[in-house]
Amino acid sequence: MSEAGGLSIDVRGLTKAFGTFTAVDKISFSVRKGEIFGFLGPNGAGKSTTIRMLCGILRPTSGEGYVGGRSLGREPEAVKRMIGYMSQRFTLYGDLTIGENIDFHGGIRRLPAALAKERKAWVVEMAGLRGRENVLTRELAGGWKQRLALGCAILHRPEIVFLDEPTASVDPASISFRRCGGSFSRATASACSGRRSSRSRPSAFSSSPSASAASS
Ligand SMILES: Nc1ncnc2c1ncn2[C@@H]1O[C@H](COP(=O)(O)OP(=O)(O)OP(=O)(O)O)[C@@H](O)[C@H]1O
Ligand SMILES: [Mg+2]
Repeated sequence: MSEAGGLSIDVRGLTKAFGTFTAVDKISFSVRKGEIFGFLGPNGAGKSTTIRMLCGILRPTSGEGYVGGRSLGREPEAVKRMIGYMSQRFTLYGDLTIGENIDFHGGIRRLPAALAKERKAWVVEMAGLRGRENVLTRELAGGWKQRLALGCAILHRPEIVFLDEPTASVDPASISFRRCGGSFSRATASACSGRRSSRSRPSAFSSSPSASAASS
């Protein structure tokens, strides 16, 4: 695979077993640079497990995968440095304020102070949280938490972004990639997951960022 070939993500036969249970069974797909790629499936289909492998957090049981040209099996730390990840369950600390959560993520990503300040202002604005920086995060309604979590995931302007159920709790009027325009147009690829009930295994969709923004 390769970036040189215009691919940001390329996986072949990716498999994850937990003991005798196979959660992800030999999936293969590729994502081109600049493409928004998503997969849909019912609860337990293996969407989050797949994303965690693509983020370098879970080591695949078999198969191979490359994210940004880095091997999931051999270079998981390099993959982690390159990507942004909004997990389905946990991204924010409830007992930190909104501002502190953003600062925390800036610290993890080692943003220089001036850039961290600039990006923090951008996240607050993008999430519609201006003036609420000192509010405890646990006091936010679910949809606002999702917006803040998205902002933290793309704070460092990663080349590749993984969003696990990013629209859960967010009202339909607010679901728009346009709000994040700067970061998504810079990202070489984005992958996200969502639920649907009619299929037992995940299925995929993809589009360019501009097509997605136009339809939102
Ligand atoms: N660490 C683990 N140990 C054992 N089984 C696991 C582990 N993580 C996930 N599983 C199992 O793997 C399967 C896939 O889980 P996963 O969370 O990837 O599904 P999902 O498609 O994201 O579901 P949801 O729509 O509920 O988020 C489930 O049966 C789950 O119980
Ligand atoms: Mg999941």
